[in-house]
Amino acid sequence: MPEVRDKPISLELSGITKVYPGAIALNKVSLSIRSGEVVGLIGENGAGKSTLMKVLGGTIAPDEGRVVIDGETVRSLTPARAAGLGIAFVHQELNPFSNLDVTANVLLGREMRRGVLGFLDRPSMENKVGPILKLLGTRFGPKDPVAELSLADQQLLEIARALSINVRLLILDEPTSSLTLSETNRLLDVIRKLRAEGVAVLFITHRLAEIVEVADRVVALRDGCNAGELSRQEISRDTMVRMMIGRDVNQFYEKSDHAPGRPVLDIKGLRTRAYPHQSVDLCLLAGEISCLAGLVGAGRTELARAIFGIDPVEGGRIEMDGKPLRGNSVPEAIAAGICLVPEDRKAEGLFLDFAVTENIAMPSHAALARRGFVNHAAVTRLAEASRQKLRIKASGLNRAVAELSGGNQQKVVLAKWLAMNPKLIILDEPTRGIDVGAKAEVYHLMQELAAQGVALLMISSDMEEVIGISDRVAVMCRGKINGILDRGELTEENILRLAVE
Ligand SMILES: Nc1ncnc2c1ncn2[C@@H]1O[C@H](COP(=O)(O)OP(=O)(O)OP(=O)(O)O)[C@@H](O)[C@H]1O
Ligand SMILES: [Mg+2]
Repeated sequence: MPEVRDKPISLELSGITKVYPGAIALNKVSLSIRSGEVVGLIGENGAGKSTLMKVLGGTIAPDEGRVVIDGETVRSLTPARAAGLGIAFVHQELNPFSNLDVTANVLLGREMRRGVLGFLDRPSMENKVGPILKLLGTRFGPKDPVAELSLADQQLLEIARALSINVRLLILDEPTSSLTLSETNRLLDVIRKLRAEGVAVLFITHRLAEIVEVADRVVALRDGCNAGELSRQEISRDTMVRMMIGRDVNQFYEKSDHAPGRPVLDIKGLRTRAYPHQSVDLCLLAGEISCLAGLVGAGRTELARAIFGIDPVEGGRIEMDGKPLRGNSVPEAIAAGICLVPEDRKAEGLFLDFAVTENIAMPSHAALARRGFVNHAAVTRLAEASRQKLRIKASGLNRAVAELSGGNQQKVVLAKWLAMNPKLIILDEPTRGIDVGAKAEVYHLMQELAAQGVALLMISSDMEEVIGISDRVAVMCRGKINGILDRGELTEENILRLAVE
């Protein structure tokens, strides 16, 4: 177990207000938590959850309100001060130092030293980090470089980092958004263990089942205000949804009954660099929603990147509409009607300093231009239509994407690619960090695209979503497709069995 401090914690936030230009992120919000309690913090995208946690972690200063820890009012909380008080933070946005290895990242700023010269005591550091990684069941070890870790692994790294401090209050902001079922379950176990040792845990997630599993109490925010609380007995998916968005979300996974059409993408014997000794055959049909399932590291993202021409193809054939692709070229893939909504929105999907409008219109600029000039009216119309369709919450479409909440940034990524009218759309974790209401919108949109004859290939670590929306699921394991399940065969058990074989 990670080290835990004996001294219990009691914490009370009251009247916390934070105003940004154009947005009241928090409006007199209160929240309390004490040792041995797991509190779920829920709310729609942009409700103010991350902002409230950043106040507690000392990364942003509130305009008004009081933070009382262990009975004392804490003024000007800084990250160092928060850490000193035993508050550990897993941030929603990941920023590992990719030139350092795992151990150096986990213990950054808290390196162990020895001797009068203060040399790094690497063996002790690795001895500290190793057991934490084991606890989380990571595939990577203390000495591995961080540069090549997948998003899920980066998420686990961030969690390891939080667990390496002497923690009294653990804040988890969307820690499971890229984790698959088995890693998530392991994390939930860690949370239970920490609670038993007297740690307080604040847990933000849009996967409401996780809250049902571990939370003792739920606090909901809506539009920057407190929207209510639920005690352990009152917690259920429906009560949470109602409190978050003030209405029920029915028809979550509607299914329309159109027959799949002609083959759109046909892959034969495809080998990727991640698993050069395995080959993949897969045929995707027009009007069909297929899903790639598997554990973290099964090779799903690598396959998607090879189809889209980002990663080199080591062998085999890719045909789009009966015509072979040369491969290794993104422009070629786009010209053939393929688009990829990437998993890592910050690295590959978004220009954070650019306006929402710019981001959405970027790939469609050629189509929207008239005689070589950008047609601003068309660009604005497109952005406005996307905003309504996906319910993007922004104080204005001319605001920089960096100012949007995590889930709203994800919606901008989706909008950008959907605007291209693709024939095949590959969605890598499309609903990562998106709230329930907006998820229903995304699923609806996927159905609409399928009904129009688009082929969809989704990669998702959210088992509920995989089962809910897919017509067919190809389960990958160590670089090869272990089996394909039809809609009638889709159960968690069937998928997991193929994923671990
Ligand atoms: N740096 C900033 N500048 C301007 N507005 C901001 C900034 N950071 C956050 N906001 C706004 O504050 C509001 C709350 O954002 P916050 O990130 O706390 O939402 P959230 O509840 O964490 O949402 P999500 O579920 O999408 O992560 C949003 O309207 C957001 O646009
Ligand atoms: Mg957030």
